[in-house]
Amino acid sequence: MAVLKNKKVTKAIFPVAGLGTRFLPATKSVPKEIMTLVDRPLIQYAIDEARAAGIKEFIFVTSRGKGALEDYFDHAPQLEASLRKSGKTELLETLKSTNMESGAIAYIRQHRAMGLGHAVWCARRLIANEPFAVMLPDDVIAADKPCLQQMVEAYEETGGSLVAAMEVPKSQAPNYGILDVGDSDGQLVKVKGMVEKPSVEDAPSNLAVIGRYIITPSVLQTLNRQKSGSGGEIQLTDAIAAEVESEAGVHALKFNGQRFDCGSKAGFLQATVSFALARDELQDEFAAYLRDISPMIRAAE
Ligand code: UTP
Repeated sequence: MAVLKNKKVTKAIFPVAGLGTRFLPATKSVPKEIMTLVDRPLIQYAIDEARAAGIKEFIFVTSRGKGALEDYFDHAPQLEASLRKSGKTELLETLKSTNMESGAIAYIRQHRAMGLGHAVWCARRLIANEPFAVMLPDDVIAADKPCLQQMVEAYEETGGSLVAAMEVPKSQAPNYGILDVGDSDGQLVKVKGMVEKPSVEDAPSNLAVIGRYIITPSVLQTLNRQKSGSGGEIQLTDAIAAEVESEAGVHALKFNGQRFDCGSKAGFLQATVSFALARDELQDEFAAYLRDISPMIRAAE
């Protein structure tokens, strides 16, 4: 593991092949990852976070109907020329900041939505003997230091697989992968086990795994075995949990920042409000609007 510890995390897998049923009918034709918080698609927040953490290669695990996502990463020379011609420099810069280097993105198809673990496994041939990140774009994290960057720094200390974790009310345990935890060193916690979506009674703690991971390549071998095992969804957390006895073990980082579950309608709306209030050009007008409607909110309650 000592060797891997010295290997930099430069690749990230973005599993985006899910069906996105919670946003039907929109997701009939619009990939969930293209839906916007204010004016930026969810995927752009994830890409920006990955770049800040030093990621150079971006691997998307996609499925049928995700064409708009691939198009989003194409350069738009006509649009750029038009903005340049009309002197819209700021918009031009915004547009150019989304450009990706040629060859930095790869798309892999997951032919059937067989779960997150299976989606990651589908990208196995693009990963060598190196640690890699997995980012779920529906988890959007507002943080002074981007969450993945916090994790890369923690990984440089631990060397083993690492998950991002946050405390949740016990009643919400059935919605998450929940950690069985050992010793902690500040925000870094040793993981003894992980249970996917336990009942409230069976939840070993109130620490939940959210959609950011740094994974050592041996997890892919575990996924390989699961793949050839019984059917049903293939869980990433189960494959990571198989590493707890390894030399470097598994750790969880209680990251600094606020996570929004943009895979759910309520979380998406909360993120929209928060990100709008954080924007200089919208802040005053939007805050005034929220103040104006607060009597309506109280009346509705
Ligand atoms: P979700 O559990 O949110 O599922 O997946 P979903 O299909 O996106 O959305 P709902 O629940 O039907 O509304 C978490 C992440 O894992 C990816 C999803 O694209 C999302 O980024 N995923 C899930 C896959 O890539 N493949 C799968 O088979 C399952």
